[in-house]
Amino acid sequence: MNKQLEDIISDLIEFFRPHIEGIDSVLDIGTGTSIPIHVFAEHFPEIKYNTIDIVDIRKRKTLPFKIYNGSQLPFGNSEFDISVLNETLHHCEDPLTVLAEARRVSKSVFVIEHFPCRGTDIKELIKTEEKALSDFNIECSIYKPFTEHSLYLLFEKAGLDILDQIEVPYHGSRKIKKYFFKLE
Ligand SMILES: C[S@@+](CC[C@H](N)C(=O)[O-])C[C@H]1O[C@@H](n2cnc3c(N)ncnc32)[C@H](O)[C@@H]1O
Repeated sequence: MNKQLEDIISDLIEFFRPHIEGIDSVLDIGTGTSIPIHVFAEHFPEIKYNTIDIVDIRKRKTLPFKIYNGSQLPFGNSEFDISVLNETLHHCEDPLTVLAEARRVSKSVFVIEHFPCRGTDIKELIKTEEKALSDFNIECSIYKPFTEHSLYLLFEKAGLDILDQIEVPYHGSRKIKKYFFKLE
């Protein structure tokens, strides 16, 4: 299963390449298995990486890692070029606090989030999220999916502007659309 997660990220490397030009440091918030950011680091080794989560469920452990309380990131203002929240916000108890902290510690925030396709009901969305998490051996007690509207509102409340919004290629069977947001 983890091999599958590695493949998914490897397939997206070319998608992300144009967005990381000039970036020297990255904080991966909600690193989870940490597989995606480790694959990323192998392709872009010149960048300095840090990772953080509220629990340690890492399957790869080469990059520096911290556990924190889920509300205050143990880093200084603008310490990183970018913070990455890859499918993390919808698993947070308080996504606004996490996003505001991401903004505080970095110059830009990269968010990857999914929305249900039109006509997909919430029960189906939750069921397929549970299946995806269990396929990847990830335990997350919280899942509060966003709609496009509720995510835009969250960005606004956190004082972040959308500089770029690009659909991420998704070839799975879930009825979702994935987006990459570049925020400042
Ligand atoms: C789907 S998982 C990991 C996704 C991971 N970013 C990836 O790229 O595969 C979501 C993660 O968010 C973490 N999380 C939940 N609340 C958090 C918070 N307040 N701050 C940071 N991470 C949090 C969970 O512990 C979990 O590891």
